[in-house]
Amino acid sequence: MFVDDARGERALADYWRSDADLAAYDAVLGARIGWKWDAALAECAERGFARADADVVLDHGCGSGIAVRRFAARFGAREVLCHDRSAKAMAFAVRSLQGSGVAARAVRDVASLSPDVLLVSHVLGELDAEGERALRDLIGRSRRVVIVEPGSKAVARRLAGVRDAMVGTFRVIAPCVHAGRCPTLGNERDWCHFFAPPAPEAFTDGDWVRVQRELGLDARALPYSFLALAREAADAPSPAPVHRVIGRPDHGAHVTKVQVCDGNGLRTAEVHKRTHAALWRALKKDPESIRSLPR
Ligand SMILES: C[S@@+](CC[C@H](N)C(=O)[O-])C[C@H]1O[C@@H](n2cnc3c(N)ncnc32)[C@H](O)[C@@H]1O
Repeated sequence: MFVDDARGERALADYWRSDADLAAYDAVLGARIGWKWDAALAECAERGFARADADVVLDHGCGSGIAVRRFAARFGAREVLCHDRSAKAMAFAVRSLQGSGVAARAVRDVASLSPDVLLVSHVLGELDAEGERALRDLIGRSRRVVIVEPGSKAVARRLAGVRDAMVGTFRVIAPCVHAGRCPTLGNERDWCHFFAPPAPEAFTDGDWVRVQRELGLDARALPYSFLALAREAADAPSPAPVHRVIGRPDHGAHVTKVQVCDGNGLRTAEVHKRTHAALWRALKKDPESIRSLPR
C-alpha cells in the first residue's frame, strides 16, 4: 500500500493493525525512508538550517517515528511530539525515542499547536484535499518545516504546490536556490526529485538483499522530494548555490545530460566525457553526490 501511487488525491484509510506491522515497516521501508532523511538533512545543514536543541519538534503522520529520530540525531530537539491518526503508530514512535535522550510524547490533536519545527514524511500522498488544507494550516503555524516525500511525479508536483503557497511567508532553505515560482509546475513533464544513497548494508547484508528483492524494491534508487522552510534569518543559505541538479542524469556514450534548476527555470546542461572526465564518471557512478555542476 505504501508503494501504491494510483490512488490520486483520495485519503488512505488507517492501515496500522499491530505493533508487529509497525516494527516490520520500521525495519525495511522505514529504514529506507531514514536514508532519504539523511540525504535531505545533510543538504539542509549545508544550506544553513540551524540546530534545534531548544525546539519543540512535531512529527506529523509519524508512523514508526523514523523521520523525527533521524532529525533529532542530526539537529537535536528539546521535546518531540508524535502525531498520527493511528494511536498505535503514535505509541510506537514515542517508544522508539526512549533512550535517545529526547523527551517524547504523543499528541492526538494538532489543531492548536505551533511547533518550532514541523516534520512531515511520506504523508502528503495519503491526504485528500481537506487533509492537505489542514496540513497547510499547520505549516503556516510552524517556525520551520522539513517535508520529505517519495520522489514520484504526482506527489513531487503536489509538494511544489505547497512550496509555492508558502514562499513569501517562509524562506526556502533547500533544495531551491531561488524564491520564484517552481518551474516544474510550468510543464507537466517535470517534477523536482532526487536520489538518496542507500546505506552499504542494502547491498552487503544478505537479509537486506533478499527482503528488497521479495518486496520488489530497487536497492539502488531511493527517490525522494523534499522541502525545508524557515522564517528566521538564522537559517541562512551559506552561500546559496547557483543551481540545483534534479532528477537522474541521462547518460550517452560521450555526453551526459543533466537537468538543473536555477532562478531562470529548468534547463538541460551537458557534461562531456572528453572535457570533464572526472565529473562525467561521478555522474555515472555516484549521481546522487552531485548537487551542482562547476561553472
Ligand atoms: C507512509 S506512512 C509514513 C510514516 C512516517 N512518517 C514515515 O515516513 O515512515 C504515512 C503515515 O501518515 C499517517 N496519516 C495519514 N493521514 C493522516 C492524517 N490525516 N493525519 C495524521 N496522520 C495521517 C498514517 O497513519 C501513517 O502513519
